Amino acid sequence: MVKVLFVCLGNICRSPLAEAVFQHHCRLLNRESDFLAESCGTANYHVGDSPDPRTIRNAQKNGVSIQHVGRQLSIHDLKVFDLILAMDQQNYENILRLDVNNTYSHKIKMMREYDPEGTGNVPDPYYGSEKDFQEVFDILNRSTRNLINHLTTTPPVSPTPAK
Ligand code: 4NP
Repeated sequence: MVKVLFVCLGNICRSPLAEAVFQHHCRLLNRESDFLAESCGTANYHVGDSPDPRTIRNAQKNGVSIQHVGRQLSIHDLKVFDLILAMDQQNYENILRLDVNNTYSHKIKMMREYDPEGTGNVPDPYYGSEKDFQEVFDILNRSTRNLINHLTTTPPVSPTPAK
């Protein structure tokens, strides 16, 4: 089983949606038992909170149900997950900073490395409009679908420890 962790800042908009859309595609492909997906935030502002109501509404509009309780990224996550996907550059750097000995950097990537139509950040929609939430949905929809394809053909391999 491949364990994937989606990481944003607050864990109420982008990463819980990434988790839900990823799981949605796994269900459609009948691949639920092959993957474990979770999400968290690098900040602690929304620990214990439900996803943003605008994210829930947008996901529903697109046929995806979303249930999540906000939590903050911990060092333990870096050990447990096989692939850790940052929604933007700021969060990518925050995750790397937690990995003080550079033990897990091979697992940490940008979400849009898997976007067949673009690169860079999944833009933060928190101060945005419905159009911005839909843009996030579209990016995550195509990126998670492509990610599942990629993990199916090329599962992540841990580097061989030095003797
Ligand atoms: P997220 O969006 O990182 O996609 O969950 C945000 C949520 C909350 C805040 C910023 C971004 N905030 O400043 O509280």
